[in-house]
Amino acid sequence: MDAVFQRCIHPDCGSTAALDDTTFACSRCGGLRDVVYDWDRLPPPRSLRDFEAKWADRANPLSFSGVWRFRDLLPFAPPEQVLTIGEGQTILQKADAVAGYVGMEPGHLFLQYEGMNPSGSFKDNGMTAAFTHARLAGARRAACASTGNTSASLAVFCSATALMRAIIFIGSGKISYGKLAQALDHGALTVQIAGDFDDAMQRVQQVAARLGIYLVNSINPFRLEGQKTIMYRVLEALRWEVPDWIVVPGGNLGNVSAFGKAFIELADLGLVKRVPRLAVINATGANTFYQLYERGGLRWNGGRPEARKIDGYYLGLEAERMRASTIASAIEINRPVNMTKALRALDRCGGVVREVTDQEILDAKARVGAGGLGCEPASAASVAGARKLRQEGVIGAEERVVCILTGHQLKDPTATIAYHSTDQKTFDEVLGQRGVRRATFANRAVQVPNDLDEIIRAIEVYS
Ligand code: F0G
Repeated sequence: MDAVFQRCIHPDCGSTAALDDTTFACSRCGGLRDVVYDWDRLPPPRSLRDFEAKWADRANPLSFSGVWRFRDLLPFAPPEQVLTIGEGQTILQKADAVAGYVGMEPGHLFLQYEGMNPSGSFKDNGMTAAFTHARLAGARRAACASTGNTSASLAVFCSATALMRAIIFIGSGKISYGKLAQALDHGALTVQIAGDFDDAMQRVQQVAARLGIYLVNSINPFRLEGQKTIMYRVLEALRWEVPDWIVVPGGNLGNVSAFGKAFIELADLGLVKRVPRLAVINATGANTFYQLYERGGLRWNGGRPEARKIDGYYLGLEAERMRASTIASAIEINRPVNMTKALRALDRCGGVVREVTDQEILDAKARVGAGGLGCEPASAASVAGARKLRQEGVIGAEERVVCILTGHQLKDPTATIAYHSTDQKTFDEVLGQRGVRRATFANRAVQVPNDLDEIIRAIEVYS
């Protein structure tokens, strides 16, 4: 056995695959696979503080990258094979203005702003790792189904490196303009399917298997290796102190799975003394995980979650022809592919799941924006969820909470403009039909005639 390999996460199966295998689903039982490191044969870092030395080595692209700076914790590729475009230069911001809204004391709420990545979302953390693996495996074409950000990231990596052709599957009319613009501008082959993300996800797996195209959705365990580093950067920004809570939006459940793996590995290596609690936030209109975990009591159960509960839930969705529907289009997903890994993460990290309405999402988004960082609707679900958990008393006012802002504000201008609009028709068309009734934190544009005195009067009145 090599020092790095892939292994099915199901404890009754555990079948392994070589590092360069690109099928990703377990060939014996169909389960998800992990990337596994044999730490007896690889040198694990002695202390997390050692990573700080990398800051002095920023002329080296691998040390500049916020992902590969931590390569000792994802050592699956030789340094000369790594493909980086400078991803992961992101910040953890202490957000006192937003803390008040969430119900936290000043100094206790932090926002991890992944919108600063080259393609504007957290996906670049995972894409650099998947791309590196694809190069190891000799792939020429890469594909994904996407609600927009994975496809934007794939398109950027393909155009920046010219190593692969990007093929993206999107649900018709389902992705926001900012993200569609990226796919088109960066030259990805864009396949619009008459269906939604869940349909596109199914199709892309069939097509990838048939044509031997490298798949970069988060079912690909190498994606998750890259996304672990979001947690390393959070810890680094907190001077290696573990926060009490990490709150993250849940769509395909890749992030929460990656975060869980990051902390499980750090704890097993003795690099952290405790792990944070994880909170996953669904949108009410795409709340499979909330329904199954909080309502249905679905649990990891030692690696044997009750398949009956999951199958029954999906049968119910089909019978009622239920489709995911939320303004937070990034997480408009009813069939999250990483469900079992997410259950494992919540099991080890004392996890909870909540759902928030589109109204709560947009109000939280406006507060985040007014507090200094712009995010897209799905990202604001984390802040809306933290507020809910605070109101319930699940999160204490004195605890330290980190909300992950997964994507940039400019990804979805339509939702933002509608929220702040003075035009009732625009509001109704975009938001009203989704049950959004108020724009409590709207910052409406002021209309004035083209007249100097009127302009000055308006400024005196409103400022
Ligand atoms: N936030 C944003 C901005 C996203 O784009 C996504 C997922 C999520 C949260 C959910 O993350 O899947 O790890 O639970 N977007 C995928 C895409 C599905 O295709 O871009 P997750």
